[in-house]
Amino acid sequence: MDRRLELEAITKRYGRDKNSITALQDISFTLFAGEFLAIQGPSGSGKSTLLNICGLIDNPSDGDYYLNGVSVAQLGVSERCTYRRRDIGFIFQRHQLIPAMTVYENIAYPLLLNGVTPKQIRHDVNQLLDTMGLEHRRKHLPKQLSGGERQRVGIARALIKRPQLVIADEPSASLDHQHAHAGLQLMRKLNQAYGASFLVASHDPFVIDHCDRKIELLDGRLETPA
Ligand SMILES: Nc1ncnc2c1ncn2[C@@H]1O[C@H](COP(=O)(O)OP(=O)(O)OP(=O)(O)O)[C@@H](O)[C@H]1O
Ligand SMILES: [Mg+2]
Repeated sequence: MDRRLELEAITKRYGRDKNSITALQDISFTLFAGEFLAIQGPSGSGKSTLLNICGLIDNPSDGDYYLNGVSVAQLGVSERCTYRRRDIGFIFQRHQLIPAMTVYENIAYPLLLNGVTPKQIRHDVNQLLDTMGLEHRRKHLPKQLSGGERQRVGIARALIKRPQLVIADEPSASLDHQHAHAGLQLMRKLNQAYGASFLVASHDPFVIDHCDRKIELLDGRLETPA
């Protein structure tokens, strides 16, 4: 099976000298193409830090990271940007929607950035709004939505461009069971239909049970080596 991500002895320190915090220490694992992997661990164990590194939002202090076999350290700024825009979908702990854009516009935005035709955008966004039960909220602004609705918009926005890697930080945090299920089903559908790989940080037993495999972080170290 193809290796989507490979982390070799990744360490992340925040700050310098005696005030520095080691958020990740000696983390190695592989995420294969089409795999749906859960990252479990208590608050402060380094889950978001790890996801930020995997998603090219942050750099490790030490170690090697390969994305589709390419050493990330060798990528230039614009190549990293292209990867993030085209190939990686993010679902954040705090949804991070664009406040001045409607639900429809927020979901359409990644397609617009990738040069998709207006007709295709309308088709894809309307279909996804329908699947996520958000069609009646299409013209609303994020501030007019409930927490769960915002989270669903965040999931839709990450999945709309059918990225090969989806990084989700507590994707079900503010969802009730029914909507958590719908969000997860959608993620699974993309996973099966297009072989997208998923890296999902979660405390939610429901989410973890539906992943192929899990790894556990404790104080920045991997508990169960993958
Ligand atoms: N920008 C930063 N500067 C300094 N320390 C940070 C920074 N971001 C995170 N940390 C520290 O790194 C450690 C890991 O944080 P991280 O956010 O990755 O944990 P987490 O597992 O995602 O926690 P949670 O479940 O609460 O989201 C914590 O001790 C945190 O205080
Ligand atoms: Mg976190």
